[in-house]
Amino acid sequence: MQAENYTVQDIKLAEQGRKNIAWAEMQMPALLKIKERFAKEKPFKGMRIALALHVTKETAVLVKTLAAGGADVAITGCNPLSAQDDVCAALAADGVKVWAYKGESKEDYYTFLNKVIATKPNITIDDGCDLVTEIHQKHAALIPSIIGGCEETTTGVIRLKAMEQEKALKYPMIAVNDNKTKHLLDNYLGTGQSTIDGLLRASNILFAGKVVVVLGYGSCGKGVALRADGLGARVIVTEVDHFAALQAVYDGFAVMPMKEAAKIGDVFITVTGNKHVIRMEHIKTMKDGTVLANSGHFDHEIEMSALAKYPKRTIRPLFDEYLVDSKKIMVAGEGRLVNLACAEGHPSTVMATSFCGQALACEYLVKHKGKLKPVVITLPAEIDDHIAALQLDALGMKIDTLTDEQRKYLASWQEGT
Ligand SMILES: NC(=O)c1ccc[n+]([C@@H]2O[C@H](COP(=O)([O-])OP(=O)(O)OC[C@H]3O[C@@H](n4cnc5c(N)ncnc54)[C@H](O)[C@@H]3O)[C@@H](O)[C@H]2O)c1
Repeated sequence: MQAENYTVQDIKLAEQGRKNIAWAEMQMPALLKIKERFAKEKPFKGMRIALALHVTKETAVLVKTLAAGGADVAITGCNPLSAQDDVCAALAADGVKVWAYKGESKEDYYTFLNKVIATKPNITIDDGCDLVTEIHQKHAALIPSIIGGCEETTTGVIRLKAMEQEKALKYPMIAVNDNKTKHLLDNYLGTGQSTIDGLLRASNILFAGKVVVVLGYGSCGKGVALRADGLGARVIVTEVDHFAALQAVYDGFAVMPMKEAAKIGDVFITVTGNKHVIRMEHIKTMKDGTVLANSGHFDHEIEMSALAKYPKRTIRPLFDEYLVDSKKIMVAGEGRLVNLACAEGHPSTVMATSFCGQALACEYLVKHKGKLKPVVITLPAEIDDHIAALQLDALGMKIDTLTDEQRKYLASWQEGT
């Protein structure tokens, strides 16, 4: 359904969307505290903020937080399968500019990105760097009026650093992904739980007793391995980094090259942020009935283009079977990030901390307008600490404070044994 300021699946879903957003808000008190302050201080008065994020109920709470701060917000998705149609409808019905629906074509994906760009943003918020790339490649004339932007995920930060390296980045970008609070709650705990959630909703398999191969033992891989282990799976990790592999070994997991793991795994989950970590050469040696899923940002991790040449049938929504040399290979979520394609992404509590980071990063950009270089920036540690304090407060937890004697001791070097 289209109107001047939106394209959504069905505007009649708005009421359900509002209920879901309210449920998310109940679990996001840390972000609501920031929203309350923004409503008083209006840090974004007269500004336009464009977002390309997964349009979920939690993202809607971020949109409302920025709007409470005075921003004129426009949003589209950052993955063709992740938008929640009821949430999109609720945002549109409440006057937010929104272009997104679940299952959108690649053509629509880029049309919608260009719709939010056409609102001439002063701040951009990305998850995966597509918005920044599109602006730099096709709308460079808009760059002088952009104060800066924020990036939500590891893959986006990698792309931004490549832009910075080539001196192609033309406005400052805050790597919200690199907040310690974001890594802990989102990449580690969030991806750990929601990846399994997506895989279970798509397939309803039992994890106990299965050999689950986790490709990549970064923040996300650690979370996925931890939760698969907790469900009784036997976990194998594949890695290309010696230290990460060592961590996996000492966390109690088997580590081996993919060539070997391919033959013995029952379930494979990619979380590397890299390309073609599962290739046809691996798939051909897999067991009949093997299940593949990806939770990395892009659908590049499994070689889907090669798999697409084999006969396919859809067994149930977002769960396909490919017939590869008489063996059945099952793929969840079309190889797109399984937690958002097949489930609802991270729980609201997780996104509260990630989006406290986004909200405070936008405020930081405004406060430092004109003073930041066009590079990738990490937020100061005090802001990250403030987010941790807000989340602890939301949980009703208190901590100790340093005594004067302790502060002095930690700043000194004279006192020994
Ligand atoms: N699904 C989600 O909701 C979600 C949430 C956060 C991040 N992400 C995405 O997940 C991906 C991983 O993020 P991260 O924060 O864990 O990154 P990370 O850099 O911490 O970890 C990636 C790991 O993969 C390893 N790796 C790279 N190539 C490999 C290969 N060929 N084989 C095996 N291992 C390999 C790296 O050595 C590294 O240890 C990124 O694409 C990120 O954007 C997804």
